[in-house]
Amino acid sequence: MKILAGNSNLPLARAIAGYLELPLTDASVRRFADEEVFVEIHENVRGEDVFVVQPTSFPANDNLMELLICIDALRRASAKRITAVVPYFGYARQDRKPGPRTPISAKLVANLITEAGADRVLSVDLHAGQIQGFFDIPTDNLYAAPVMAADILARNGAKDITVVSPDVGGVVRARALAKRLDNAPLAIVDKRRDKPGSSEVMNIIGDVSGRACILIDDIVDSGGTLCNAAQALLDGGATSVTAYITHGVLSGGAVARVDGSALTELVITDSILPTEATNASKVIRVLPIAPLLGEAIRRIADESSVSSLFD
Ligand code: R5P
Repeated sequence: MKILAGNSNLPLARAIAGYLELPLTDASVRRFADEEVFVEIHENVRGEDVFVVQPTSFPANDNLMELLICIDALRRASAKRITAVVPYFGYARQDRKPGPRTPISAKLVANLITEAGADRVLSVDLHAGQIQGFFDIPTDNLYAAPVMAADILARNGAKDITVVSPDVGGVVRARALAKRLDNAPLAIVDKRRDKPGSSEVMNIIGDVSGRACILIDDIVDSGGTLCNAAQALLDGGATSVTAYITHGVLSGGAVARVDGSALTELVITDSILPTEATNASKVIRVLPIAPLLGEAIRRIADESSVSSLFD
């Protein structure tokens, strides 16, 4: 087994390699003067089971191109099996046509990864489970929920906790976390717009009064969904609001928005390399995801069960 890293999250790739007690594959993934990506693998990979670690986070197109070219280089070097390890799968939110004459970019990206030569895909908390079906190769979608539940239980226990989905689409994810927290009660933030472009009206479905609310979501991008939901929960009588969100996209002024919000804490994973601003934030904490990914990679290589990781 070999672990090859692109440039999008080298510390994560190193941590996964550390978990597996392997060195990273000796390779250079660099740019020509005109920014074209060039990959050179400096060791033999013929007949090897190779895992390419490359979340397609910001800058999404550059990181995607690196992933594709790494896979191409491995295929042409006769690797036996290539697994694209994409802890954060960029473009996942474009998984349907939001209107006429629009693309389904998540499907296009899945096709590109497959056509490049990947034999398998490994990701974490895909925005929608059905994205697995965009690939016609085996795709493992890991859940960060066990890592989050362990952290919540270690810090607070399950007492007085209500798990909250920040929108109707996230209820399945919230229910799965609640189950791991001694079947904690569930609430849902029902986000509506009066009219396009106007402010959102937040209704809370469920009782949050006097409860320590745990918001769970897959992505925090601008932070708008999260910060509005936190305020609505406090207005509804919650004693505190902590958020657990797998992928810290945190674009634009998101970190400042989170820092100035009503949140007690935002906990993300390092599926995306945290920025300096994220690391400097007093509100944001980062949970390592490498042990989960490393264990899944070990099991894929050993051809043993990955789903039993979540039992
Ligand atoms: C939406 O369906 C996702 O699960 C997230 O809630 C959304 O992407 C968060 O975006 P933002 O932080 O920009 O509100």
